[in-house]
Amino acid sequence: MNVKIYGEGINRIGVRQITPQIYWICHCIGKDAEKHNGGFAADFARINPNIDPTANDINYNSYLFMDEKTLLIDTLGPAQHNTILEVLSDLLGERQLDYLWISHTELPHAANATAIRRQYPDLQLMAVGGHDHYEIHGLEDALLLDYGDELKLGEHEIEIIKPIFLDHALTQWLYERKTGFLCPVDWALMAQNEHQSFLFMDEMEATGYSPERFMHDVSITNCVVFAWLRWADPDQIAEAIDAFFAKYDIRIFAASHTQVIRKDVPAYLAALREAMRRAVTADYNLVY
Ligand SMILES: [Fe+2]
Ligand SMILES: [Fe+2]
Repeated sequence: MNVKIYGEGINRIGVRQITPQIYWICHCIGKDAEKHNGGFAADFARINPNIDPTANDINYNSYLFMDEKTLLIDTLGPAQHNTILEVLSDLLGERQLDYLWISHTELPHAANATAIRRQYPDLQLMAVGGHDHYEIHGLEDALLLDYGDELKLGEHEIEIIKPIFLDHALTQWLYERKTGFLCPVDWALMAQNEHQSFLFMDEMEATGYSPERFMHDVSITNCVVFAWLRWADPDQIAEAIDAFFAKYDIRIFAASHTQVIRKDVPAYLAALREAMRRAVTADYNLVY
């Protein structure tokens, strides 16, 4: 595996290349994740025995596009403050960061916006429009975007899209047309064990992972992430997913808390659809 690792434990970030111009910047704890994260995997595995009881680690992902213009997707969390600055400085070298796009204002996504702007003072911040609580995240002068807005980086063309699964209203997703890159933010959150750090989804298969395991994981984790699912209509959910998959040709599935899916994408998307159907209809009693 070709990964460059910075820091350790809660500061740790691994960097991998998805394409020559797109980098996966991934925080996960690795060893001792259970100690930091409270050992939730054992509880999940009690509810669904198809879940790995040692999978106590969750990614925080950022992505960097290096085209004629450079774009960073999200900033990682407060504990990765110094490491993300070091990673950016290594990857960008003499180049500037032109755009910083914030998916939604939560600490694992937006915490380092101010620090990154201190390092790259000319960057353009971008966040979803329609709200006025941006001061606390240092986003008060962000360019406020609408769904459907487009941004050309060079060969890569970004489109801001409306999310179908979100944990609060101040959220947007992002799609890049040339590569079929989708950042669906919190959707499809999964957990991993310490031997699976920084693996692409296709590499996870050597550790016993599969689309089916992914389906079981997401069916549980997404009940927790999107508590509103228990009141959702399963037919409407399935329709929304089908319409979304028909509209966007997804070739790289690059979420905020999921291993990057770059191969066998249709198999994982089908598993994801089934996971959401189960998340809506199953009585897991995880959310009280
Ligand atoms: Fe979130
Ligand atoms: Fe998140």
